[in-house]
This record gives sequence, C-alpha cells and structure tokens, in this order.
Amino acid sequence: MQTLQSPASESASYTREDWKSGYDSQPQEFAYWIDDIEGEIPSELFGTIFRNGPGLTDINGYRLRHPFDGDGMISSIAFDQGRAFYRNRFVRTEGYVAEQKSGKPEYRGVFGTQKPGGWLANAFDLRLKNIANTHVVYWGGKLLALWEAAEPHRLDPHTLETIGIDYLDGLLQSGDAFAAHPKIDPDCQGEERLVNFGIKAGLSSTIRLFEFSPDGSVVSQHRHSIPGFAFLHDFAITPNYCVFVQNPVSFNPLPFIAGLKGAAECIQFNAKQPTKIVVIPRNGQEAVRFFDTDPCFVFHHANAYEVDGKLILDSICYDSFPSIDDGVDYSEVDFDHVPASQLWRFTADLAVGSVDVNVLIERYCEFPAVNPQYVGRDYRYLYIAATHGETGNAPLQALLKRDMKTGEEQVWSAAPRGFGGEPLFVARPGGTQEEDGWVLLWIYNAERDRTELAIFNAQDIATGPIAKLNLKHHVPYGLHGSFTPHYFGPEVSS
Ligand SMILES: [Fe+2]
Repeated sequence: MQTLQSPASESASYTREDWKSGYDSQPQEFAYWIDDIEGEIPSELFGTIFRNGPGLTDINGYRLRHPFDGDGMISSIAFDQGRAFYRNRFVRTEGYVAEQKSGKPEYRGVFGTQKPGGWLANAFDLRLKNIANTHVVYWGGKLLALWEAAEPHRLDPHTLETIGIDYLDGLLQSGDAFAAHPKIDPDCQGEERLVNFGIKAGLSSTIRLFEFSPDGSVVSQHRHSIPGFAFLHDFAITPNYCVFVQNPVSFNPLPFIAGLKGAAECIQFNAKQPTKIVVIPRNGQEAVRFFDTDPCFVFHHANAYEVDGKLILDSICYDSFPSIDDGVDYSEVDFDHVPASQLWRFTADLAVGSVDVNVLIERYCEFPAVNPQYVGRDYRYLYIAATHGETGNAPLQALLKRDMKTGEEQVWSAAPRGFGGEPLFVARPGGTQEEDGWVLLWIYNAERDRTELAIFNAQDIATGPIAKLNLKHHVPYGLHGSFTPHYFGPEVSS
C-alpha cells in the first residue's frame, strides 16, 4: 500500500526556483555542534556520516555548465550520545587550489564546462581535472574522496583536511582510474572486503578489479579486457562475481578534442544495440561472461545476489543516456524530456545464458541503498530517492522504501519545498533484523535555504523523520556518502 504524507500535488510538487537554489555554491567551510534539532537523535547512533558532492557550481562567478563539474566538498556529521557535530571542507585538489588562486577556470570539465575564450581556448587541452566530488569512504584507516576517472584523495577524517593524492600503497600510478563506487562485501571468508574497479575505456576497454582487506592491504587484483567502449560508473558484487552493465554507447572524441564539448557530451546512446551484463568471477580465474538484454542506460545498481543458478541484478535503468541538450543550462532542464529512471530487475540464468527483465519500481527513482550486511545477498528492503508524484519526471523529493518480497511500498515526501537525494541505511548496533536501523537523508529545505539531515526509523519511514538536524546553511545537492562506526567529532563533554 502506498502512502504519501505530504500535500499531494501530482502536477506541481515543487517550483523550479526552489529546486535551482539547492545548486547554489557553498564556498564557506564550517565546523560546529548542531544545536537546532527537531525530535531526538537516537542515543545508539554512534559514528560518522560522510558525504561528497559538488560544493561549487561557479568559479568566482563563472557558471559551470553542469554541477557534476563542481569541486568536491565533503560534509561530515559525527554522532555520539545523542549529539552531532557538523563539518565541511573542500578537497584541495590541484585544480581547486589553482582556480581559487587565479579566480578563473583553469581546466575544462568532463560534463561540458569550458574555459573562457571559446573553442580556441579549449581545443587540444585534454587534461582531466580530478575534482574528487563523487563519493567518500573510510577504509583501512584512510578517508578517501573518490572521482572515477583518477586517483583518490586522502583526507584527515577528523578535520577533513586534504592529505593528498593516495596511490594506495603503490597500487595506482599517476592518472590511473579508481572508481567512485566501491562495494563492501560484509563477509568474505569471515571478514569485510572492499571491492572496487578502475576502467580504461577505448575501442576495447580494460576493467581492473581490486579487493582490499580491512587493514587496507590489497588481497587480489586482476585485469580483464572487454570488447567495445565501456562507460562504467558503478557495479554490483555477489560472493562469487563482480557484475557490470555495459551500456550501448559509443564515444566520438572529436568535438572534445576540438574544444567544442566536454568528454561526457561526446557519448552517444545506441538504442538499437543491446545492453550487456558483464559477469566477472571474483577469483580472477574463470572466463568473463556476457549476457545481452534490453537497451537501457545504467548509472547505479541497488544490489545483486545469486540464487539457484541465477544471478539477480537490480539496477536503475534509463531509457536513454540522460544528457542535456546543447546550449541548455542544467537548471532549465525540461524534466518531461529527461529519460525515465526506474528500478529494473535482471534475472540472468547462468546455465542457459538468458536474461529476464522486470520493472519493479515504475515511479522515477535514483540513488538506491540497502542494509550494508545484505550487499551481495538476497535482500528484502530497498531505500531509494524518488519523485513526489507516482508518474512523470521531477526532482527527487521523496524517500521510498520497497519490500522486495511483497512489493509493498512506503513513501515519505519532502515536497513541496524539500528536495532529497541518496538515502543511507545505518544498522542499529546489535540489531539482527534487516530493517533494524535508521535511514539518514540529506534534505535541502528551500523555504529556509538550509540543509537538514533527517533520521528515519527504517522500519517505518512513512510517518516521517524521528529527528531532523537543521544546519545553519545550505549544502549543495550531493552525490554519494557512507557511514562508519567511528566517531570523528570533537570530544563530547557530558
Ligand atoms: Fe554514482
């Protein structure tokens, strides 16, 4: 049964001005105890939530073509004994430091931001600006800000100060890619394992896979060459496999080289070609397998698991590559013409080689999350950002929880003036049930022009947050984040 707790307005759940204001740059850096709290922070909630996303959508007034080109800014909230400490800092990448010093764009952005001066000023400048803006993860004693096309930046988890580019103890060389979507296997031979990949795309593409033990040391790595250009943003894991979706896209670099477009704007979706599910055994020994399925474009996966010789993969699928038309400012995008993003379930029969497809969530949705203990396992509960209305495309204002066994859904919406994004499930310490925990959600409140962190009881999101932490300012819409059961705030005085 679906429930909507907010004012229902299928046609206008938001105003464009409200939505746009959540993209405004936040150049300031803060550090303070959060004292404006509605409800009560659960006393058992202990640890630190980190979140990454573009903190600037302009460089000294020069507007970026797309927020994804914005410099990475990390936010953290540390929880202990019902108190919470907020901090944010920009990642001091080489590009951020140079541009803040000069006061103007020194690099082109992958998503189309060009240096001033037209194509002549941009042609043949093929440098990538490692903007470290996509994800942040604490692993092996290191806090790493991730951007998929280059190396991670290491930060101090207490202060968020940038330590520098981290080559993972020599595993990476300068310019090597390290994806922004690592997965943590909750139980690999009795311990957690961080699994990630790096992609080198070309006429054929090379996927490099890494597995790290809890102390950060590399346990295994192997490389695989796959045919064709591969745009791989995310992947999924099971105990035996790494699972990728190879989108049916091609890449024509000429407009990029000529200074006319960003690299990501040179991606072409080929609707008549199949999408391929690429299954790579984690042991690195067995052959890579490919399964053709319906044409679609995937950024993110919700989860994957193996059951009865079948591989289940739940992914957010677009009916095309969600690009922005030439010359259109991202903030003026026509949502009616943005490709649909829905939750699809792929069921690959590993013996037969066939794939069945089912649409599980038709409402437009993105940024899925599950209980970390169920990553790669048969799971029941999915949490995901969704549109307020059941039909039509719009900004993500709602939080949706789906029971994957019964199909039952709960919905809570921050409409009309609230805007959400990626939820994060945090298990209650000592909890044994899959939904025993909290869902943390960053919400931009346009009425106050501030950001809030909402904490939901994961068993019942429909009744709304049990606590809301009101920040003193706004944080631009973020991308991805993570939670670690380590407290990185100041000492809590009792
Ligand atoms: Fe992502």
